Amino acid sequence: MLNLRHQVSLRACNSLAIDELAEHWVEVDSVPQLQAALALAAQNNWPVTLLGGGSNLLICGPVSGLVIRLSLRGRRVLQRTPSEVLIEAEAGENWHQLVNWTLDLGLAGLENLSLIPGTLGAAPVQNIGAYGVELEQCLHSLDAYDRTQGKVVTLQAAECQFAYRDSLFKRSPGRYVILRVRLRLWPQRLAPVQVDYAPLARAWAATGLNQPDARVVSELVCQIRRSRLPDPAVLPNAGSFFHNPIVDRTQAAALQAQYPDLPCYPQADGRVKLAAGWLIDQAGWKGHRDGPVGVHAEQALVLVNHGGAKGQDILRLAGQIQADILQRYGLRLQIEPQQVGTVQG
Ligand code: EPU
Repeated sequence: MLNLRHQVSLRACNSLAIDELAEHWVEVDSVPQLQAALALAAQNNWPVTLLGGGSNLLICGPVSGLVIRLSLRGRRVLQRTPSEVLIEAEAGENWHQLVNWTLDLGLAGLENLSLIPGTLGAAPVQNIGAYGVELEQCLHSLDAYDRTQGKVVTLQAAECQFAYRDSLFKRSPGRYVILRVRLRLWPQRLAPVQVDYAPLARAWAATGLNQPDARVVSELVCQIRRSRLPDPAVLPNAGSFFHNPIVDRTQAAALQAQYPDLPCYPQADGRVKLAAGWLIDQAGWKGHRDGPVGVHAEQALVLVNHGGAKGQDILRLAGQIQADILQRYGLRLQIEPQQVGTVQG
């Protein structure tokens, strides 16, 4: 039985705290419920919007049609060998709680991804990454409801087309509903710490530890995040608002010649990732405020809602930053959060 509601405020469902209405709304906690909700939308010709934790979401206006919130729960150890442990969890599980559960089990692999807001089901969509680790390094396979075929399919990691903040699920929007994810982790004593990211390397060296300890790495990651990134419960935000641009070597060299301090990260394919936060900071936007919206004072890649902002306010500020960065550096910044809802007027 579906608990269908109408004209529901989405304020509590997005970490930017944008207050817009969903025309129709339902929360589902099982695959049959999901199928019933999709069937209802099809019968009524309602467009469907799927929501996880709402931490990478920009609601630009009222959302017409049916908003489906996925709250499937459950987690388990599937398989243990001396060198690897396969875990499985449902899409509605909170990401950070899942990371803590794996640490409690003595497993390593997810510690660098501690404290990322959102749900497990959203994690593969943008291939979440932080402090030198991306989800794809641990993802074994996942089950998703394929709306084109009308059935549950299993996709192996190699089929998910993972790249920097990108995946099959972003490239075929609306087709797959991620239901369940399997992750391949390691007993802590077998997994070396992954501390290449400079501030993490410094914090790890200061502990003086010489044995791998995923719990300690997790705590250090939490400290670094808390010092740079605003807590959405205190200052609403959607994490990094723009992707770090990836450019070819020639363009990176030209920019570096002009801006010797520009942080550049060479990629495996020969291209170079540039720090958008540095570019926006150098352009003078850090701490900028325009009415209800602003650029975070500690991290220029994060846009914040100081209270009462509409999606349009955020988009206007983002557009100004994009135009300025294009003019100064010839780079087109791409917005990271998924945009839903209709821009008004
Ligand atoms: N920087 C500045 N000023 C700023 C922000 C950054 O000079 O205002 C410089 C930093 O000093 C550093 C470089 O730019 O030299 C990179 O900054 P940082 O390490 O803070 O990381 P980021 O590139 O801004 C990315 C991810 C974050 C992730 C961190 C750590 C993207 C879009 N963002 O940010 O992910 O936590 O690296 O790995 O790739 C997210 O996706 O929501 C997110 C927070």
